[in-house]
Amino acid sequence: MLSRHPAGSGRGLAQVHAPVTVRAPAKINLFLGVGGLRPDGYHTVTNVAQAVSLYDEVTARAAKGVSASVRGEDADAVPSGRGNLAVRAAEALRSYAGVRSGAHLEIRKTIPAAAGLAGGSADAAAALVACDRLWRTGLDRDTLTSLAAECGSDVPFALSGGVGLGTGRGEQVSPVLVAGEYHWVLAFASGGLSTPAVYSEFDRTAQAIADPPAADAVLSALRHADAGLLAGVLRNDLTVAAVRLRPDLTRTLDAGRELGALAAIVSGSGPTCAFLTASRNERIRLAAGIAGAGVCRAVQQVAGPVHGARVVAEPQRSPSARDPSSS
Ligand code: C5P
Repeated sequence: MLSRHPAGSGRGLAQVHAPVTVRAPAKINLFLGVGGLRPDGYHTVTNVAQAVSLYDEVTARAAKGVSASVRGEDADAVPSGRGNLAVRAAEALRSYAGVRSGAHLEIRKTIPAAAGLAGGSADAAAALVACDRLWRTGLDRDTLTSLAAECGSDVPFALSGGVGLGTGRGEQVSPVLVAGEYHWVLAFASGGLSTPAVYSEFDRTAQAIADPPAADAVLSALRHADAGLLAGVLRNDLTVAAVRLRPDLTRTLDAGRELGALAAIVSGSGPTCAFLTASRNERIRLAAGIAGAGVCRAVQQVAGPVHGARVVAEPQRSPSARDPSSS
């Protein structure tokens, strides 16, 4: 746990700060090797994640406390109080930096919730970047990354984006050198899957190993910009557990394979299925085929890798715009 920022002795709303909007991406796991269960309840993993072009947006506005409102995809399934990862991230930053002012987070979701795409982690990463800018806390990347890791295993990756190799419980992320662009079709399922439930099912059914497998073959394929090569080495150790909890996914995965996907995988703990294709045109063709097969709730075409959480709009401050909590 991070101790309090040395300079954080109570920053208030001395100035009026304009709203900040940050966009953060979903991820697909190219490799998720699961090792032993640790005493803290997490599994050691080797996780290669690719950030893809499906984004949530978070706008942070100066306010008294920290609060959130959620709009868009699956908004009803996302809590807006302390259960919201973005709220927790903002509060972690606020308490670390000793900020007195607050923020209202307006979360616009495109990434489905509990889908294996780390949408909640994207929102948390976006909230960290947005509040750091809003509150002028100016934390360095390492500190933001440590705060991100406290919020969840996938949050550091949502900050960095690109392709990352995650070790530990997935939160220790190093960037991976990647050539080329990869084209995917995502098949969204109705309803979500709980990550802890999928890991529990994994513990119940899989052969326990102490150390997670290495991801060398995936890392090597990524250097060759060859989707066919990558397709042959994709791996997700949670697939069997996710499919046991959601047997309908078998039909989705089979349909994608039959329609010519280079590879069909469950992303993370599911239930989203991801299909790798050879090109943008192949992606368009496959998306139409999967949509027509009626094996999922919706399809989405994405490409990766893309950048991590990043400020996209910071409207110019108007001289007359006064924040009510600063007077
Ligand atoms: O880190 P995060 O809060 O996203 O993890 C959610 C849950 O997923 C954990 O409480 C744990 O049950 C499971 N998990 C795990 N091993 C990991 C990551 C997550 O068992 N490496």
